[in-house]
Amino acid sequence: MENLDLNRLPKHIAIIMDGNGRWAQEQGQDRLFGHYQGVVSVRKVVEAAAEIGIEYLTLYAFSTENWDRPVEEVTGLMTLFVETIAKEVPDLNKNNIQLQFIGDLSQLPAEARKALEESTAQTAANTGLKLIIALSYSSRWEIVNAAQILANRVQEGHLIPEAINEQVFAEALTTKGIPDPALMIRTSGEHRISNFLLFQLAYAELYFTNTRWPDFRKPHLIDAILDYQSRERRFGKTSAQVVLDEENK
Ligand code: IPE
Ligand code: IPE
Ligand code: MG
Repeated sequence: MENLDLNRLPKHIAIIMDGNGRWAQEQGQDRLFGHYQGVVSVRKVVEAAAEIGIEYLTLYAFSTENWDRPVEEVTGLMTLFVETIAKEVPDLNKNNIQLQFIGDLSQLPAEARKALEESTAQTAANTGLKLIIALSYSSRWEIVNAAQILANRVQEGHLIPEAINEQVFAEALTTKGIPDPALMIRTSGEHRISNFLLFQLAYAELYFTNTRWPDFRKPHLIDAILDYQSRERRFGKTSAQVVLDEENK
């Protein structure tokens, strides 16, 4: 932790929490056992992010494609979400963490949707870490949804097509008002994005680790941030320009 440069923290970290099922199966357990252990990691990582001073943390908890998993796993996960979300609200409030959900929430069972709405309302006044949970989320769904929102606005005469720029488009996404992730972490060895924040990750630094999500803890998060801090973010410019920009800051 001492090695972190607190002036160069990624403002927004996004995590694809992968490997719960494999972690469980490797020890002869049911996949759902891995999801329950994954919640322990969520708790630890959220706490660590708040402590380090990260402003936004987005966690990919359930994708649109995950609805196609065996029904027992989907039902088990929904139960786990409802139980966990309600139980965590007091701790979130104690740590001043504001909770928000992104995704196609209309697909969720009514009970789960109610738990999300309640926990969002109960933490809305918190001013510390913004914790964003992607649930029933996929980036293509989100982008298509944004296109529909904008098309409706044009049809209703509130928007002209020429006024649609990157900023207007970004504001029609579910991540409206949230800065793009600076660092994206994926656990458990897979090197892919799996339909996560395709628009928003345009210039994110990507970090992949073989550590399975249930084993991921604060030291792993710090390793990822240290790796991020060792990189030069050029945004299309040359290295010499970046160095000059830094000097003129
Ligand atoms: C990530 O772990 C959690 C969810 C997608 C809900 P997985 O369930 O994908 O675990 P693996 O990748 O099969 O090991
Ligand atoms: C991505 O993990 C979704 C979440 C972590 C919620 P998956 O395990 O579903 O992704 P793929 O199928 O390996 O690409
Ligand atoms: Mg997986």
